[in-house]
Amino acid sequence: MAYSETKVVIGGLAHIPIIIGFFYLIRRQYSFGAMLRTGKNALSEKVNPTVKASAAPAKATAPTKATAPSKPVVPAKPAAAKKPHADVPVNTYKPKAPFIGTVTENYSALKEGAIGKVQHITFDLSGGDPDFKYVEGQSCGILAAGEDAKGKPHRPRLYSIASTRYGDNFAGNTLSLCVRQLQYEKDGETINGVCSTYLCNLSPGDKVKISGPVGKEMLLPEEEDSNIIMLATGTGIAPMRAYLRRMFEPTEIEKHKWNFKGKAWLFMGAPKTANLLYDSDFEHYKSKFPENLRYTKAISREQKNTKGGRMYIQDRVLEYAEEIFNMIENPKTHIYLCGLKGMEPGIDEAMTTAAAAKGLDWSELRPKLRKAGRWHAETY
Ligand code: FAD
Ligand code: A2P
Repeated sequence: MAYSETKVVIGGLAHIPIIIGFFYLIRRQYSFGAMLRTGKNALSEKVNPTVKASAAPAKATAPTKATAPSKPVVPAKPAAAKKPHADVPVNTYKPKAPFIGTVTENYSALKEGAIGKVQHITFDLSGGDPDFKYVEGQSCGILAAGEDAKGKPHRPRLYSIASTRYGDNFAGNTLSLCVRQLQYEKDGETINGVCSTYLCNLSPGDKVKISGPVGKEMLLPEEEDSNIIMLATGTGIAPMRAYLRRMFEPTEIEKHKWNFKGKAWLFMGAPKTANLLYDSDFEHYKSKFPENLRYTKAISREQKNTKGGRMYIQDRVLEYAEEIFNMIENPKTHIYLCGLKGMEPGIDEAMTTAAAAKGLDWSELRPKLRKAGRWHAETY
């Protein structure tokens, strides 16, 4: 072989590692994409088909079969073995590596003359890798900016998500909260809660550390003909707002394939009429779906109970005990309780009295309902 031919052959051989390296990089890129898609696909139907379609176009899925990783993020299981809500995402973002959301809206959820400060706050969730997905009834963690008294980052506080998986704008890339600013007096001084004050004072464009989603306690049943009794005080309305939007908001109904056919009954406790959160939306749903939605208010500082005291939702529960228990006898009925921790004993007492009138023992019935996944409570 002539010297010049040898040079060509050696030069050609020298390119081989570069070519191998090039193919390796392409393969790695596809493998990583496939891994993410495998995780996301488990949620695609339930969480947000619109976003999915743009995030994983049909063409891009082709290489996943050839290059799928040996351990997929969500391993394929036989359909029969699946638990209810198995696909619901939990802890996609941990507090140590939170998602950074951007505030798009922050407005008062109260009317003129209301007590305190309650804000409806929306965050843009776009651009997550993986996507920040959630379903109705879940909560998220918020990490307030700044440090605590020990110079450590603030621990996360939980907030119930008040929007459906499609978000208030139906684009599937936002999350909304309903936050009451914690304020109390101590030694003649007004103390403001750290995280609730931080949230209530945010402006559009602000960046916020969000963890989660968390929680499977407050999820809606999958059956379209379930009956849903909701007992809420104050910001405990947040998950209920998401349920009611899912059930009765026309654009929601167009988006998902879950067509609610049961009976929903919301009991809402607020100190004043001006404090009733999302009241006009719920009144509107009631007028459009009178057969499916009942809405009963307990306005503690404007209405009196039969004993002349403040009207609380447990007083309303007693008032409608017969109908509530008729509904509970139906195995398709679920009860959701959310809001002040203090309401739980009151509700228990009312249910005990109401059950006794039907010859039932609430202390036996409640654990059975809970075990059957029909009693859902989240109080704080
Ligand atoms: P902090 O600065 O943490 O202060 C709270 C502390 O102040 C208390 O632990 C107590 O030590 C003290 N304190 C409180 N009140 C008094 C008082 N009257 N007198 C003396 N000391 C007092 N909140 C919402 O607004 N909306 C929601 O949707 C919501 N969802 C939640 C869901 C879950 C699952 C949970 C667990 C909580 C939820 N919360 C919600 C409550 C929220 O997580 C925070 O606890 C709340 O916002 C207060 O946090 P903060 O940082 O403002 O108060
Ligand atoms: P009140 O404060 O008049 O005693 P908000 O969070 O907007 O203040 O609303 C909470 C509502 O829950 C208020 O109407 C409040 O009444 C009411 N509430 C307070 N304590 C209880 C309790 N133990 N059981 C039921 N409702 C309660």
